[in-house]
Amino acid sequence: LSLEETVMRSELFEVKGVAVTQQIASIWDQVWKFKARPDDVLIATYAKAGTTWTQEIVDMVQQNGDIEKCKRETTYKRHPFLEWFIAEPPSFRYSGKKCYCNLENNSHLIIKHTTGLELAEAMPSPRTIKTHLPVQLLPPSFWEQNCKIIYVARNAKDNLVSYYHFHRMNKAMPDPGTWEEFVEKFMTGKVLWGSWYDHVKGWWKAKDKHRILYLFYEDMKENPKREIQKIAKFLEKDLSQEVLNKIVYNTSFEVMKENPMANYTRDFQGIMDHSVSPFMRKGIVADWKNHFTVAQNEKFDEDYKKKMSDTSLVFRVEL
Ligand code: A3P
Repeated sequence: LSLEETVMRSELFEVKGVAVTQQIASIWDQVWKFKARPDDVLIATYAKAGTTWTQEIVDMVQQNGDIEKCKRETTYKRHPFLEWFIAEPPSFRYSGKKCYCNLENNSHLIIKHTTGLELAEAMPSPRTIKTHLPVQLLPPSFWEQNCKIIYVARNAKDNLVSYYHFHRMNKAMPDPGTWEEFVEKFMTGKVLWGSWYDHVKGWWKAKDKHRILYLFYEDMKENPKREIQKIAKFLEKDLSQEVLNKIVYNTSFEVMKENPMANYTRDFQGIMDHSVSPFMRKGIVADWKNHFTVAQNEKFDEDYKKKMSDTSLVFRVEL
């Protein structure tokens, strides 16, 4: 690891058997006690399943397609990220040079503590909140208040590929290791937010008992308008064709990639390095074909069958 990475990269801890960062583990009691409000909308996903895309769609639906209103703040600030807690260091770039002040004492590097909880508590209703928590770790108040929840799932292989590149570019994530190592970690659930398999299955099961709209990244790519309509209906919003088309256009990968309020270039500066791999990377289905070797793919498929044998959940790995 480089000097820069030693300072930033987090290690994994466990909360009830699920891997989370040390920082999330340190505030776990507060996360669990979070007070949801009845009119909160929750967007829940496994990391890299299309969270940001869904957040933009939901905001545009809520704002009746008003682009300017959606640009009031960055994605990160519009929708509190429930469990996220990151101690942000001062900018790493100082007078054009990299600045590593006081490496002996990391505490001096930390100037700002922001937790998703604080952001959420300070936000007036109605709130839209983001989480990557597996279903069993969702604070109970969301169930008690019967909040609307939109869950988005993405096929395992594309989700893994996207997560790998995200680990490379985001220093708040643990070190991904090599591609081979990361595939192994993903398959064994030894990654931040735990097992993908348990995550998608757990939320799938929960949708029978709770107000959950369960969506798929692949469906959104195939027919964004149809899926946006599902979201609008779930949120009880009646939108004209004109507004719907406007939302389809403004939430397309190409437009969002150029939108500084949605592409993560305004937050986490010095933590996310878009020159390593941009946050808005490819936005396609089946990029896994450019990453998995034939042998890796066979091994993955075999293991997948076992892990997914106890669910009716079916994914498409290409369109
Ligand atoms: P890739 O890395 O495969 O490109 P999350 O928001 O959950 O972190 O997910 C990020 C993934 O969603 C990235 O996938 C990103 O490119 C993709 N994405 C973001 N906005 C998108 C959009 N409007 N359409 C399609 N994919 C999008």
